[in-house]
Amino acid sequence: MRVAIIGAGPSGLAQLRAFQSAQQQGHEIPELVCYEKQSDWGGLWNYTWRTGLDEHGEPVHGSMYRYLWSNGPKEGLEFADYSFDAHFGRPLASYPPREVLWDYIKGRVEKADVRRYIRFNCPVRRVTYDEQSGLFSVTAHDHATDTTSTETFDHVVVASGHFSTPNVPEFEGFDSFPGRILHAHDFRDATEFRGKDVLLIGSSYSAEDIGSQCYKYGARSITSSYRSGPMGFEWPDNWEEKPLLLKVNGNTAHFSDGTSKRIDAIILCTGYQHYFPFLDESLRLETDNRLWPLNLYQGTVWENNPKLFYLGMQDQWFTFNMFDAQAWYVRDVILQRIALPEQAAMRQHSLAWRQREDEIVDVPGMIGFQGDYVHSLIEQTDYPSFDIEGVKQIFLDWMQHKEENIMTFRDRLYRSVITGTMATPHHSRWLEAMDDSMASYLASPVPAAGFKDEARQSA
Ligand SMILES: Cc1cc2nc3c(=O)[nH]c(=O)nc-3n(C[C@H](O)[C@H](O)[C@H](O)COP(=O)(O)OP(=O)(O)OC[C@H]3O[C@@H](n4cnc5c(N)ncnc54)[C@H](O)[C@@H]3O)c2cc1C
Ligand SMILES: NC(=O)c1ccc[n+]([C@@H]2O[C@H](COP(=O)([O-])OP(=O)(O)OC[C@H]3O[C@@H](n4cnc5c(N)ncnc54)[C@H](OP(=O)(O)O)[C@@H]3O)[C@@H](O)[C@H]2O)c1
Repeated sequence: MRVAIIGAGPSGLAQLRAFQSAQQQGHEIPELVCYEKQSDWGGLWNYTWRTGLDEHGEPVHGSMYRYLWSNGPKEGLEFADYSFDAHFGRPLASYPPREVLWDYIKGRVEKADVRRYIRFNCPVRRVTYDEQSGLFSVTAHDHATDTTSTETFDHVVVASGHFSTPNVPEFEGFDSFPGRILHAHDFRDATEFRGKDVLLIGSSYSAEDIGSQCYKYGARSITSSYRSGPMGFEWPDNWEEKPLLLKVNGNTAHFSDGTSKRIDAIILCTGYQHYFPFLDESLRLETDNRLWPLNLYQGTVWENNPKLFYLGMQDQWFTFNMFDAQAWYVRDVILQRIALPEQAAMRQHSLAWRQREDEIVDVPGMIGFQGDYVHSLIEQTDYPSFDIEGVKQIFLDWMQHKEENIMTFRDRLYRSVITGTMATPHHSRWLEAMDDSMASYLASPVPAAGFKDEARQSA
């Protein structure tokens, strides 16, 4: 049996680790081929300075930027089978910068020795399914040899992410705006906007974080413009929220409440599209960014052809541990440890979850919903069980801390539900920590001798 995995980001790597874990326990596993279009693993966490097209002319996948720190506590995303203590050998603060989380992601898969399954610099161009043979054909381009080839597989796992193809609306006057207009996907360095009046469109995580970055690195003013509702935090004095932008006229932005403001640059924090041009239409997920996309049984199985799976396609409160829960579930379907019901029953099951999603009225409801989903998956496999109610509480505390102070919430500390370890304060407050490198981050007081070995052994 052959399984193709598309993407070596946190989701694709979770799939490789899930199979390796079964193999470690003595089970036979299928032949695995993981196609990755970038030259290294880690998905979005593998930072690139590039924007637009990459060195091969492929659309750049990366949406992360310099100085990006985790937007939620690390205790909310910790792998149940590989703790932060095990990786770093010492307690850390709760909101690490990108490079530290990338290192953590890499640590588990290096230990599992799964890099050999990955074909780097290999974008998948086409996936089709042949009813007669019951096999998928996967066509990929290998940039190392500049050749395109097609191979057949029994199963395909789509783990290509959904925060890389920007949603780019246009507003009147954009074509003659004298400053820079960019989407969050192309944002790389907040210092570019030092001393500038910046307008952000959108009121979700990118707007909140990119605005905070611009504030931290010296923008003169920040204006964020919302469509549905304001973010509503207590912003610093030079940050104001406005209703939706109507048009720009020269350097002046006009808003739907009749007010206007002078601006130097516009950053569209308007989200991303689920975009799978390489999948045959019959296999293609079409959805907006939500907790329960339709046509995915258990959030992963393509109901129209249950040999095809998707990982990580939901809007995300839970991340790494949710991808793990999904990957373990998919593995067990492929290994026939889990039997799938008939299509009608799968649809009914999905629709019930979707209805529950539709009834959610607030953010705690969303967190509860996704936690219950993760729990329902974990119950069905041997992924190490962990205190999901504890993680939900961490997210609720996180929300509260953001309400209290949006500029200091990253200084707060949480306790790991995996190891019980309490996070330790970082050497600098987030607002004053200008260097986001791992070297700078780890330059905090060292733990007691022996802690590292103890932690690794207990992993
Ligand atoms: C700006 C930003 C900040 C974020 N910050 C956080 C955070 O602080 N905490 C958190 O938990 N989550 C955060 N996230 C959420 C993020 O989605 C997840 O953490 C995680 O990266 C998702 O993993 P993934 O593997 O599903 O997708 P990705 O990380 O996007 O990885 C997908 C992989 O598939 C590859 N790929 C795509 N198409 C092809 C193809 N055709 N052929 C071959 N390979 C392909 C890509 O190159 C990539 O390596 C953030 C997201 C964004 C956009
Ligand atoms: N530091 C970090 O860790 C960090 C930083 C940035 C992003 N992220 C992650 O990145 C992911 C994506 O976040 P995101 O904020 O980019 O996307 P998102 O959560 O999907 O939000 C998109 C925003 O764009 C608005 N929007 C969409 N189309 C619009 C239009 N035509 N006009 C005006 N507004 C429009 C939406 O408004 P409506 O509400 O009206 O729909 C919404 O506010 C999240 O998982 C987040 O956690 C993390």
